[in-house]
Amino acid sequence: MSKHLVHKGTRIITTDRLTLRAFKQSDAGDMFKNWANDSEVTRFLTWPPHEHVDVTKEILSIWCGQYEYDNVYNWAIELNDEKEVIGGISVVATSENDFSCEIGYCISRKHWGMGIVTEAFKAVINFLFSEVGMNRIVARHDTNNPASGRVMQKSGLNFEGISYAVKSRGEDFYDLANYAIIKEEYLKNINHNLSDPQVKENAHRLGYIKNLRKYVGHIPLIMAGACVLVFNETGELLLQRRTDSGDWGTLGGAMELCESFEDNAKRELFEEAGITANRYELLTVLSGPDMYYLYPNGDEIYNVMAVFIAHDIVGEPFVNDDESFELAYFPIDQPIKGLNPFNAHILRKIGLIKW
Ligand SMILES: CC(C)(COP(=O)(O)OP(=O)(O)OC[C@H]1O[C@@H](n2cnc3c(N)ncnc32)[C@H](O)[C@@H]1OP(=O)(O)O)[C@@H](O)C(=O)NCCC(=O)NCCS
Repeated sequence: MSKHLVHKGTRIITTDRLTLRAFKQSDAGDMFKNWANDSEVTRFLTWPPHEHVDVTKEILSIWCGQYEYDNVYNWAIELNDEKEVIGGISVVATSENDFSCEIGYCISRKHWGMGIVTEAFKAVINFLFSEVGMNRIVARHDTNNPASGRVMQKSGLNFEGISYAVKSRGEDFYDLANYAIIKEEYLKNINHNLSDPQVKENAHRLGYIKNLRKYVGHIPLIMAGACVLVFNETGELLLQRRTDSGDWGTLGGAMELCESFEDNAKRELFEEAGITANRYELLTVLSGPDMYYLYPNGDEIYNVMAVFIAHDIVGEPFVNDDESFELAYFPIDQPIKGLNPFNAHILRKIGLIKW
């Protein structure tokens, strides 16, 4: 972990339906019309509805001035199709020493219940963990506003308890429900998606090939699997020094029951290097007689191998299981000493290495 947060400012973040971007002075009309003037939207917020667009303009001019600081994260939520600002999501408090921050959000009433804030929040969480180096992200809501709690749950945050009569609105005190997510758990969850009961159910089925071997011995099997290529900024390829053969090889392994090739790639990447990726690009699927492999113990397989490039890596690679001694990036324009010959064959076959 870096010794301090690496602030990046209000960078543009895109998702399937949304663009999160810095607010502009010209957003005043949309912001006023869509949410700032709506007392239903501000009902559980800390500020009153704007009575006139001039109030919105004034706020926007303050916000726009704050963007000169790279520790300010205040995104306008824009629908990709409509190019209209429909809400906002921001870091409302940061604790630099604790690597933690709190998030706040709101959107226009006509867009409620469409999963928009959840989509935005998930993207912001990913950005803050992977780019800024946050370790803990919190959010709090008035207990009378359960819809906001649902957004927190659906975004992967855990309920941590209620703070009673902790805030006041006029003469009334109200309670806040506290939610948080920590980076380690986030990385595990996005990889294994353990909130999905189907995936939990599958966990006990791991070891498919190993189990099969109990019945069929060493005979040749067709084995589906994924190979995951990870490159650093200078185009070097991540390899692991394997404990079974002692030589350097690519990341990847056999598919388990119920997995898709992409699930397979995600799991292997996390198990072998402790990292995840935001996007998996399927490069090719390899099969045929040259994909035969004889293991040191005599097991024979014909690989059917999906080769992926993992993009937008989250986390720093580290040895996360007992399958490798170490991990390292290698330049691929020159021979790699100790590269496993079968892995070299695969890299050659997909045109990645010429030697
Ligand atoms: C709260 C708010 C941010 C939710 O945004 P959204 O884009 O509508 O959220 P999503 O569609 O992703 O999810 C809303 C969830 O709350 C649920 N929900 C809505 N009203 C609810 C209620 N009264 N009780 C319980 N759940 C409710 C929805 O069904 C949905 O859950 P589901 O997907 O499981 O069905 C939005 O309503 C808003 O801007 N409100 C005003 C401002 C605000 O309260 N901000 C948060 C301050 S902490």
